[in-house]
Amino acid sequence: MSDLLQPMPANLLILGGTTEAYDLADRLAEHDGWHVINSLAGRTANPRLPAGETRIGGFGGIEGLARYLGECAIRAVIDVTHPFAARMGWNAAEACRLAGVPLLRLERPAWQPEPGDVWVPVETWADAAEALSQIGARRVLLAVGRQELAHFSGVENIWFLIRLVTPPEPKPNFPAAEWLYSRGPFALDDERALLDTWAIDTIVCKNSGGEATSAKLIAARERGIRVVMLQRPARPAEVTRAATVDEALSWIDDLNAG
Ligand SMILES: NC(=O)c1ccc[n+]([C@@H]2O[C@H](COP(=O)([O-])OP(=O)(O)OC[C@H]3O[C@@H](n4cnc5c(N)ncnc54)[C@H](OP(=O)(O)O)[C@@H]3O)[C@@H](O)[C@H]2O)c1
Repeated sequence: MSDLLQPMPANLLILGGTTEAYDLADRLAEHDGWHVINSLAGRTANPRLPAGETRIGGFGGIEGLARYLGECAIRAVIDVTHPFAARMGWNAAEACRLAGVPLLRLERPAWQPEPGDVWVPVETWADAAEALSQIGARRVLLAVGRQELAHFSGVENIWFLIRLVTPPEPKPNFPAAEWLYSRGPFALDDERALLDTWAIDTIVCKNSGGEATSAKLIAARERGIRVVMLQRPARPAEVTRAATVDEALSWIDDLNAG
C-alpha cells in the first residue's frame, strides 16, 4: 500500500511520570496505529524524555484536560501516574467522561498483608508519625521520601534509621538518627541484616507495591516487626484497570479492533 493510503495513527495520551509509563511508551513505539503523546507534570527539571511526543505541565484541572482531549483529537487515555498521585486520576476520569474518550488506569498492584504481617495502616504521614508514639516504637527504619521527613523530625523518644537515595538538602534536624543512602532494589538477606544490625522494631513506608523494595516486608514478617504502612489514596472505582504493561497493550488492541 502506498503511504498515502495508510490510515492516520490515532493519538493516545499517556499521563506519565512513572517507570511503567516509560515502559508503556517504549512498547507503543513498536506498535503501529498509535501516535503517543506523553504528559509529564513538570515537577522534575530536565526529565528523561519518554518515547514518542512529550508535553509538560498541568492541563488546568478537569475542564482544561477535557478541552485538550478535544483539541488534540485524543482517541484514548492511559493514566499511569504514580499510585500516590492523589488528584490526576480523578481529573482524568471526569475529563474523559465529558469528552467521551476511553480511559485506562495502569497501576502496579498494592502490597497485601500476609499471615504473620503486623501492619498498621495509616492514611496520612501525620497519622504515621502519631502511630509511632501510640504503638511504643523505639527504633524505626524510616523508608519514606525526603519530602516526608518533616512529619517525623519532631517525634520524641524514637531513634530513626533514615534510608534515602541521596542526602536531603537541607537536612532536617532529627534528635536521634542515623542516615543511610542507598538505592533499591534491596535483597532479602541485606534487609534481614539491616533490621538485625540496627535492632529495628518498626518500619515506616508507603504501599508502593512491586518487588524492588518488598524484601523489607518479608524480613519484617519473619521477625514480627511492625510496619506502619501508608495506604494509597482512593481512585475512581469505575475506571478500567490494568496491572501490567501487557494488559494495557491488550486493552489498546481491543480499541483498535473495536
Ligand atoms: N506523588 C508521588 O508520590 C509521585 C511519585 C513519583 C512520581 N510522581 C509523578 O509526579 C506527578 C505529579 O505528582 P502529584 O502527586 O503532584 O500528582 P497529583 O496530585 O495527582 O496531581 C496534581 C496536579 O498536577 C498535574 N499533573 C499531575 N500529573 C500530571 C501529568 N502526568 N501530566 C500533566 N499534569 C499532571 C495536574 O494539574 P492540572 O490540574 O493543572 O492538570 C494535577 O491536578 C505525577 O505525574 C506522578 O506520576 C508522583
